[in-house]
Amino acid sequence: MSIKTELLSALIKNDENFISGEKLSGELFCSRNAIWKAVKSLQADGFEIEAVTNKGYRLKNIGSVLNKESVEYYLGSFKDKLNLIVLDTVSSTNDYLKELAAKGAPDGTTVISLNQSKGKGRLGRSFYSPENTGVYLSILLRPKLSLSECLLLTTAAAVAVAEAVENVSGKKAMIKWVNDVFLNNKKICGILTEASTDIESGGLSYAVVGIGVNICEPSGGFPDEIKDIAGAVFESGDNAPRAKLAADIIKRFYYFYETLPERTFLNGYTKRSFLLGKKVKVINGENISPATALEIDRDCRLLVRFENGEEKWLSSGEVSVKL
Ligand code: BTN
Repeated sequence: MSIKTELLSALIKNDENFISGEKLSGELFCSRNAIWKAVKSLQADGFEIEAVTNKGYRLKNIGSVLNKESVEYYLGSFKDKLNLIVLDTVSSTNDYLKELAAKGAPDGTTVISLNQSKGKGRLGRSFYSPENTGVYLSILLRPKLSLSECLLLTTAAAVAVAEAVENVSGKKAMIKWVNDVFLNNKKICGILTEASTDIESGGLSYAVVGIGVNICEPSGGFPDEIKDIAGAVFESGDNAPRAKLAADIIKRFYYFYETLPERTFLNGYTKRSFLLGKKVKVINGENISPATALEIDRDCRLLVRFENGEEKWLSSGEVSVKL
């Protein structure tokens, strides 16, 4: 590890308090001048480090720094449950984690990346994942669930994101059945859960829950294909509490995951669901049928009433629904 990386960790661990240059040079086994140079370099990278004579240095807005130390800082003792990996770049955090899963990585292995060169969305689409404007994370789970129950992981993740976004931004998030999180009618998060089955037992071998949250609009705006639908949690990425948000999502998701049979996420889901009571289009392959969304049950199926009066429970695996 370079002095710069070690210094950043030391400042994060010091919890926004001042730490003297002398103490740092002792802890990092380097000169005070080397500490000063590393501070300058971190400041040039955008870290807010305050330097005060006779007091030393302190890092402000730790939540806006997205790295292993800062996320673990917000995870607190919860970090012991996870095996957290933070990468600068990766093709897709889901793909990366699936490779680790195939090699036997344990339940709770979690990957965060600052960008993704080939972020994946649902239905074979791509997920736009530019550097430093989003939180892209995937969590590996090895639950004893059927494939259909696996769908609930996605729903639980949507509620975890909505609650965490509300917590850090103070804005009200909504969820579009099944798993898109919206703020001010714009999609700010997508979730892709991928599962692998064990051929011998016929059960689930593992699931990877991938979550992508747009923190701010990239400079130059969102690409044309998504600019009408995509939104972001904050207007600017400066000081946006990315690490705090990531840790908050992980902690909330884990609680819902561990209490899945009790459906602790369900109330938070239905109360944020913006389809209920609305006219929707039910899309099944080439077929598009107008209907009204009525109710969501404890398996997160959606009850709709078609124009001929027929009512039907829809499962997310079968159809998609648009307003
Ligand atoms: C969608 O909206 O269609 C789902 C998007 C899911 C994106 C996340 S970002 C982290 C994880 N890695 C991926 O490649 N995809 C998911």
